[in-house]
Amino acid sequence: MPDRFTGKVAIVTGSSSGIGQSIAIRLASEGAAVVIDYHSHPEGANETKAKVEAFGSKAITVQADVSSLADTQNLVDQAYIQLGGCDILVNNAGVEKNAPFLEVTEKDYDMVLDTNLKGAFFLTQAFVKRLVALQKPGRVINISSVHEDMVFPNFASYCAAKGGMRMLMRDLAMELGPVGITVNNVAPGAINTPINTALLADKPKLNALLNNIPLGRLGSTDDVSALVAFLASDEAGYITGSTYVVDGGLMRNYKEQ
Ligand code: BGC
Repeated sequence: MPDRFTGKVAIVTGSSSGIGQSIAIRLASEGAAVVIDYHSHPEGANETKAKVEAFGSKAITVQADVSSLADTQNLVDQAYIQLGGCDILVNNAGVEKNAPFLEVTEKDYDMVLDTNLKGAFFLTQAFVKRLVALQKPGRVINISSVHEDMVFPNFASYCAAKGGMRMLMRDLAMELGPVGITVNNVAPGAINTPINTALLADKPKLNALLNNIPLGRLGSTDDVSALVAFLASDEAGYITGSTYVVDGGLMRNYKEQ
């Protein structure tokens, strides 16, 4: 592995499982110290921590509900207190709720929007405030989804959140470019993670989806974290304001079944 993140600190939200866990481990494998954020699975966060430490990198686990401003502030504070700073923010924590539009409740809408969008918004604000005060550059990478752009019937709240994340990224790239902070989205398609547990158990649905993926398989978490690592690295210093899709071609081949 190259060693692109020695001396850097990264916060990865939702890194107790799935894509977030893979990102935390990938950044650590190249030298980053990592803040492992988790909501309700300390055992998953501890597993990530053990894997990070196996690379000789430092890690702390911090419990946070990213929809709480106090909790997002604490994530950034802990990075500075325990790891001496923070250079890279990966807004990965996300939830989705399958429901026809007419059955979406206020509670579920709030959960999806607050976690996926509000959380990324205010955590980024807390992260950037510190960098601006210190006049340091930084990287913000949001894990959005192909559904920041592509329809997903019965997931209207998720699409609203991810579409919002797309415009948030574009706007912040403009506002933060002058202070040396890049902002990009990584948009995964169907990746083999716990968020897709129901889909993986439903063979007809899974096969229909696979028929829509030109590369003929679900993505792995490593497919996503390799791209995140590139965007977080110095090599991506001139890249800001865009979305990078990692979906096996799904977005170019979507058909309603
Ligand atoms: C969703 C998955 C879905 C995939 C492709 C992701 O953003 O989380 O549930 O399978 O997009 O549609």
